Amino acid sequence: MNILVTGASKGIGRVIAQELKSIGNVYATARNEQALKELKPAGYFLCELSDEYELSKLGDYICENKIDVLVNNAGEYTYTPVDETKINKLNHILAVNLRAPIYLASRAVPYMKTQKFGRIINIGSISGVMGEANASHYAATKSGLIGFAKSTGLELAQYGITVNTINPGWVDTDLGHASIEMSDFLKEEILDTVPQKRFVEPIEVAGLVKYLISDRAKGITGQSINVCAGLSVGI
Ligand SMILES: NC(=O)c1ccc[n+]([C@@H]2O[C@H](COP(=O)([O-])OP(=O)(O)OC[C@H]3O[C@@H](n4cnc5c(N)ncnc54)[C@H](OP(=O)(O)O)[C@@H]3O)[C@@H](O)[C@H]2O)c1
Repeated sequence: MNILVTGASKGIGRVIAQELKSIGNVYATARNEQALKELKPAGYFLCELSDEYELSKLGDYICENKIDVLVNNAGEYTYTPVDETKINKLNHILAVNLRAPIYLASRAVPYMKTQKFGRIINIGSISGVMGEANASHYAATKSGLIGFAKSTGLELAQYGITVNTINPGWVDTDLGHASIEMSDFLKEEILDTVPQKRFVEPIEVAGLVKYLISDRAKGITGQSINVCAGLSVGI
């Protein structure tokens, strides 16, 4: 099985890539070459996901390597009150968090169709399920992934291809810490809003990715699954 993980250089994506080595050939992409090399993947491809040309080349790489499983994990966060929107920053986050996953899926699907098997797993965010004040751009991209997974889940069901979105709550990574620092709240105050009073661990997300790839999960498609330590349920 050939697997491509985006954002595999650190954080959640790195743990996903490590975890999936036991079930297939893991191909990795991100911008940090040293970190990708250290992962010792089956192959790696450097790509700035906001760059249209580089993204199209990553699409070619997907076709060349006959990717059966695409994990759209890479993402960026932005803390921006809506009335402070700048068009270039808006374009950037839309490109990295939403355009890239959709485009990469479009390049992976033709081979998956010939195999009558495929798995596309997006890493969304609980912010795309619940909303997050001053992070509407980020939340909109993550909600977009949920809509994309529902629609393509339907469209590709007849080909044995499943498409799902995992929505983590707060995870202890660079992005998680940066988003806390940009917010108006202290780490302790944020954790206090989480029913389990803890960060989600990257391995919890990686374990679910592994399950969604398995044959036992073949009936799960078009779904939006929260891994949020209870955050989405209420207070
Ligand atoms: N941490 C959280 O609390 C949390 C919560 C909910 C959802 N998520 C989602 O989980 C996913 C992973 O987040 P994380 O917490 O693991 O973040 P992270 O530690 O900051 O890692 C982000 C990864 O994405 C890659 N990346 C970022 N921008 C990129 C770009 N423009 N082009 C190519 N690669 C890019 C980075 O690689 P390079 O820097 O090497 O390019 C890195 O491998 C994201 O989609 C995020 O939205 C995170």
